[in-house]
Amino acid sequence: MKIERVKLFNYRNFSEEEVFLNPEVNVLRGQNAQGKTNFLESIYLFSQAKSYRAASEKDLIKFGCDSFLLEMDFLTGDMPMHGEYKFSESEKREVKFNGIKASKNSLLSEHFKTVLFSPEEIDVIKGEKELRRNLIDDAICNLRPNYAKILKDYNKCVKQKNILLKKRELKNFDSMLDVWNLRLSEYGSRLMMYRGSFTRLLSQYAKLHMDELTEGKEELLIKYVPFIEAENTDNIEENKDLFNYSMEKYRRAEIERGQSLTGPHRDDIEFIINGNNVKLFGSQGQMRSCILCVKLAMTEIIKDRCGFYPVLLLDDILSELDKKRQSYLTDKIKGKQTIITCTGVSGLRRSKRTTFFTVENGKITKEQ
Ligand SMILES: Nc1ncnc2c1ncn2[C@@H]1O[C@H](COP(=O)(O)OP(=O)(O)OP(=O)(O)O)[C@@H](O)[C@H]1O
Ligand SMILES: [Mg+2]
Repeated sequence: MKIERVKLFNYRNFSEEEVFLNPEVNVLRGQNAQGKTNFLESIYLFSQAKSYRAASEKDLIKFGCDSFLLEMDFLTGDMPMHGEYKFSESEKREVKFNGIKASKNSLLSEHFKTVLFSPEEIDVIKGEKELRRNLIDDAICNLRPNYAKILKDYNKCVKQKNILLKKRELKNFDSMLDVWNLRLSEYGSRLMMYRGSFTRLLSQYAKLHMDELTEGKEELLIKYVPFIEAENTDNIEENKDLFNYSMEKYRRAEIERGQSLTGPHRDDIEFIINGNNVKLFGSQGQMRSCILCVKLAMTEIIKDRCGFYPVLLLDDILSELDKKRQSYLTDKIKGKQTIITCTGVSGLRRSKRTTFFTVENGKITKEQ
């Protein structure tokens, strides 16, 4: 995938900006708070229909305005595409590809793929389980649009069940709880299958990067740790039985606590280097390496599944890495369109394949 042109209207601190991108490396330089991340975010938004840092699309509208519009000209494989993403407070979101309205969010990720790499992502390793689940879920949603639907249905069911668990006095409480549990096991057993098989794939790809990066000294394993002990989660029927058994076991406790206590909403993903859990024993550098390997792995998985590389978005990441990891990353981005933001020196040189832009107060200017 290659983005040729981006146009932003009233997006964050941009009023009207048009940028023609290099098919390979684009470096956006500028001081803090000028709009570098805002620009990357607009491209990410196009691929995911959600921002990675705003709670609501409303926050993306330029202060004082009532709508924003993004336009992208890009190539998916060799196919030229024109995309429009409009959001207004009154009419909500409207997305079009080549003039045709995209009816589902998932259509976005079918046409337009990105992999984002930002410094905050180290929290994925260090932080709560939810962040690791989100990493895996977002990646699977990108590849399998029907996963997004199952995930949404599952989460809706958990919410509904939690509401019910707070109303024990209802006359038909028990049979209603049975209905929610049945639905949860239907959706949950599928989530487990998808998460397990994707994590295995991710682990295979990421391991190869870690081997190369550390000259074989550090062996990386990424492991799906479902909420319940299960050797293998490939069999949906077996997952369903395990999940049902667990819900029976926790039934009384769930009723007492008024909360759903078991299910894939409690799953975790473990990153293990040479047998040790990186969250507990890893150094900062190892955590960064893990994320680096995961992101490069995702890039290749997309290439294998879709036939084209996603656009790589590197937000202020080069300065966070040591020389060795920097050069590993700059070597691996070759041949893939990349947009890099930085405040100072990027370590990259201007060439036919690398264009520099200055970002200042919502204006993006190509450096000559
Ligand atoms: N909805 C909005 N309307 C107008 N301006 C906004 C809006 N949202 C954010 N901004 C402004 O955008 C600026 C931040 O932009 P951005 O996060 O892209 O900075 P940056 O260039 O990446 O800086 P840093 O180097 O610190 O990461 C802030 O000044 C903020 O006030
Ligand atoms: Mg920034």
